[in-house]
Amino acid sequence: MIKVLFVCLGNICRSPMAQFVFKHMIEERGLAEQFEIDSAATESYNEMCHAGIHHGTREILKSMHVPFEEHYSRRIRPRDYAYYDYILAMDDSNIEDIQSIVGVDTDNKIHRLLDFANKPRNIKYPWYTGNFDETYWDIVEGCDAFLKHLKL
Ligand code: 4NP
Repeated sequence: MIKVLFVCLGNICRSPMAQFVFKHMIEERGLAEQFEIDSAATESYNEMCHAGIHHGTREILKSMHVPFEEHYSRRIRPRDYAYYDYILAMDDSNIEDIQSIVGVDTDNKIHRLLDFANKPRNIKYPWYTGNFDETYWDIVEGCDAFLKHLKL
């Protein structure tokens, strides 16, 4: 079982999008039983508000026919580091924030999702840009590259 935790700042836009895009991708490829997937935030504001998935993420997932369930924001916890095999962040600032919560990445588990792609880069907040399409295609590229990295 490969355990993957997708992480962003709020856990309402990018990381739940990555969680459900990746879930759909592995289901389509017959790999679902090999994975456990979840997503989390680096900040606690949305957890305190019991915030669900942002409507922009819901709309793009619906338009791309990617199934999703309800997901409520939760902050990454120190014990997630031991539990998950891969902690996949959306941008550089997420990496710093994750390390400040879980400590030093001694097992090399923390990566940016698009570090697996041909052009490593951050995935921008669609919360500010409003461009959920760009986020979606960046996430598809990253999830696909991550599966290639796993040789699956
Ligand atoms: P996300 O976007 O990190 O992609 O979920 C954000 C959502 C909420 C906030 C920031 C970014 N916020 O500050 O509440």
